[in-house]
Amino acid sequence: MTKRFHEEAFDSGTLLKLEIFRGYTRNWLPVFLSRVSYPNVNIFDFFSGPGKDKNGQEGSPLIILNELDQYLHDPLVPKASEVSVSVYFNDDNEKNIEDLKKNISEVTRGPAAYSIRFAKKDFEIAFMEELPELKRPDTANLVILDQFGLKQINDKIFHELIACPTTDILFFISSNHIKRFISEGCIQQYFPLPEDEIRKVGSKEIHRYICNKFYRNLIPKGCEYYLAPFSIQKGNNPNIYGLIFGSRSVFGLQKFLEVCWDKDSVTGEANYNIDNDSIRDGQLSLWQEDNVIKKQDQFKKDLEGYIQSEQPTNIELYRFSLENGFLPGHTNDILRELQKSNRLEVKDPRTNENIRKGAFYVNWDSYKKHEARARFSKKRC
Ligand SMILES: C[S@@+](CC[C@H](N)C(=O)[O-])C[C@H]1O[C@@H](n2cnc3c(N)ncnc32)[C@H](O)[C@@H]1O
Repeated sequence: MTKRFHEEAFDSGTLLKLEIFRGYTRNWLPVFLSRVSYPNVNIFDFFSGPGKDKNGQEGSPLIILNELDQYLHDPLVPKASEVSVSVYFNDDNEKNIEDLKKNISEVTRGPAAYSIRFAKKDFEIAFMEELPELKRPDTANLVILDQFGLKQINDKIFHELIACPTTDILFFISSNHIKRFISEGCIQQYFPLPEDEIRKVGSKEIHRYICNKFYRNLIPKGCEYYLAPFSIQKGNNPNIYGLIFGSRSVFGLQKFLEVCWDKDSVTGEANYNIDNDSIRDGQLSLWQEDNVIKKQDQFKKDLEGYIQSEQPTNIELYRFSLENGFLPGHTNDILRELQKSNRLEVKDPRTNENIRKGAFYVNWDSYKKHEARARFSKKRC
């Protein structure tokens, strides 16, 4: 990889990664551009590259600008004219930035409704310079960190990022390298993880593990911060790498998971059979209990257990779904099934009356308004 990355055609894994960048940018823009919640909206691409591969396939910077132009030129979507939009591209390779400027000028039609800044610095220097902007309470930021390898998003940078008030992050990491070279000092320096444990983690699950066992553990206790991984395998190559999403907003998490479930309708987190589900490979087992999607089956059991033990409200169920990597729609489907088989009680928490069949209010609108409109419990059989 490295130096020749943009002199070759992007491979299938890179294209999927870029599609996820695109999908999340597309979901993120309307949240901050349709009305003035923050007067300053920034998109940072700290490892931008030159904008294209050797075949002219768009990389992250052109994808970002494309999505911005599409949104800002769409007459059918609401736009708050008072919002000022700024895009920042950095790459430590000077030629990449010069090529990027040229590539942008070739696709730009007329004056843009946003400003663009370029920098040619080592990531850490560029990041520290931009940190005051990221920390401003009146900015909403999307930060894309498409590093080579793994060492740039270390614990120090991650701590800084999660402390920024309204900042969603999406970063790439070669997780398989951590497993492969875990005993080496250069890896231990950044990922001081127990070697024995890492060796036991299956290759397919390593990216999920790095997200949940390394980055999640860096989040200070009591800090509301959401993370989600998406694992990527390139063709039949056993090496696994992937993206990690982070946000202080549960709605941000929903928007990211929508992109993930669109790419993987089985687990919402990989472009391969991450849990070795035989049914996903088209093999049916003699044992009926094996013919399930493990992650979906586990979520169903966890959800039922949660309802039984906690009698949660719609607000709590909304958060529970997303924290477990599932969308509100998945939860609503399970609730419907439980209700149909007469195993669910749904009451209005204020009156303790049964509420209309099929009404669950597990959605962002109710969550945002703190509207506890339903309380769920299991019916005794
Ligand atoms: C994986 S590529 C980024 C690809 C880009 N997002 C795209 O879609 O085309 C990583 C880029 O980071 C740059 N880079 C590598 N190390 C860097 C560092 N320490 N600081 C800043 N940029 C760096 C490389 O020159 C390369 O263009």
